[in-house]
Amino acid sequence: MNVIECMEKRHSTRQFSTRKVEKEKLEQIVRCAVLAPTGRNTQALRFVVLQREEDMQTFLKYAKHVLKKEQSPYYGANAIIFVFADMEKAITPLQDAAAATQNMLLAATELGVASCWVHTASIQYFKTLQGKEHKRIWGLEQYECLESCALGYTDEDFLQKEKQENIIRFIG
Ligand SMILES: Cc1cc2nc3c(=O)[nH]c(=O)nc-3n(C[C@H](O)[C@H](O)[C@H](O)COP(=O)(O)O)c2cc1C
Repeated sequence: MNVIECMEKRHSTRQFSTRKVEKEKLEQIVRCAVLAPTGRNTQALRFVVLQREEDMQTFLKYAKHVLKKEQSPYYGANAIIFVFADMEKAITPLQDAAAATQNMLLAATELGVASCWVHTASIQYFKTLQGKEHKRIWGLEQYECLESCALGYTDEDFLQKEKQENIIRFIG
């Protein structure tokens, strides 16, 4: 699959199977996040990959509790990658985190791994006391979580994406 085909195929999955994502694939996916451009090449992002069953369970237990949710905001994914930024050092942290996240989604598609960009739950969770404690344990006290993505396999059929038309103007 080339990059354009990956963009056509990528879509948000919100129903993951229990099949584990191979560690090598997670390493490739997060490596693609590191390769993304950053404003003035500050490279002030940090990535945390959660994939061990017990770590996932602990994180989700706390996240559901503090966010008062019954269902996992990660839809049963079996790996999560969080994108953190040093807000002092980065010139364009939001854009850098978004570029890194999109790279991960495309890399996942290439590797046959389903994904969903998860914003709200991650930023809310890491602002709570429990989330701050998680950051401390991970050595990321100075960093802010800006994005995350849910990863896993799915049995869902892919329906062609419907995107708006007439939103492009070619001048000249
Ligand atoms: C910045 C951003 C934040 C998002 N946050 C969430 C989220 O918190 N939860 C979720 O289920 N999907 C989230 N999404 C996924 C969008 O809902 C999804 O991309 C959109 O519905 C289009 O569907 P597609 O990804 O299949 O093309 C987010 C996407 C972006 C770009």
